[in-house]
Amino acid sequence: MTSKSTKIIAVANHKGGCGKTTTVVHLASELADLGTNVLVIDLDPQANASLHIGSRHPSEIEITSAELLVGDLNLISEAIEDETNFKNVSLIYGSLNLGKTEDQLKDDAPRPSEELSNKLELLKGLYDFILIDCPPSLKLLTSNALAASTHVIIPIESGSQYGLYGVTDLTNHLSKIRRVNPELKLLGALLIKHDERQNVCKLIKNEALNQVGELLNTTIPISTKVNQAAILQQSLLRVDKNSKVRKAFQDLAKEIVKRVK
Ligand SMILES: Nc1ncnc2c1ncn2[C@@H]1O[C@H](COP(=O)(O)OP(=O)(O)OP(=O)(O)O)[C@@H](O)[C@H]1O
Ligand SMILES: [Mg+2]
Repeated sequence: MTSKSTKIIAVANHKGGCGKTTTVVHLASELADLGTNVLVIDLDPQANASLHIGSRHPSEIEITSAELLVGDLNLISEAIEDETNFKNVSLIYGSLNLGKTEDQLKDDAPRPSEELSNKLELLKGLYDFILIDCPPSLKLLTSNALAASTHVIIPIESGSQYGLYGVTDLTNHLSKIRRVNPELKLLGALLIKHDERQNVCKLIKNEALNQVGELLNTTIPISTKVNQAAILQQSLLRVDKNSKVRKAFQDLAKEIVKRVK
């Protein structure tokens, strides 16, 4: 295998339901469709990304990200599942066990926020992209994702007046993480359920640029196809190749490929 310069992208926002998992899942599928090798790491105890991408149920998996975070370096190869519902997308499953992981890391790890980073060292060069789905909190799981990443995307729910609530806590958190990971670059805020014609969306767009400092050019429209894809455990490519929302994720993948060069 040729050596690649692996880009590790955390998709983070402690606000619940803003589109983190949807972004990870469909960005992974579109990056793979562009011919890149992708690994998804699910760091959320809800394991929604695993339920969508994985061909098995998270509860059946012996080595998930929970066991990996608190275990030995050599667990990494066992943790990676190459057989998934998406072509050219591998997965490290999340599981309910992640609920205990933060306490275990605090008690046992010499550097509690750097365990994932240590474990991913061995994967550098093997994948073009590693995408990390974060839980809706700013605690140790998200810190581990950010400390391990080269880039971060912040999804913001554009159609909601509360979309930006707490986002400055997140940008402050990024500054703290840069003390251990100075390389971490902000790709920008990604507007989810965005509709340029709606005033609330226009307001959120301006405010997102103000508060986050960077905005991705691509925006994601609202579409029932997103829930449909999750229920069917399929990519938008399979559900409706020509839909607006699929094209948006395809544009996002192209934009990301350009920006990380
Ligand atoms: N563009 C969209 N159009 C319509 N529905 C969407 C869109 N993006 C996300 N959703 C829906 O919004 C809900 C929340 O999305 P998602 O699960 O991706 O958010 P999240 O940030 O991962 O949530 P959590 O914080 O719980 O992990 C889901 O039901 C998802 O299907
Ligand atoms: Mg999620």
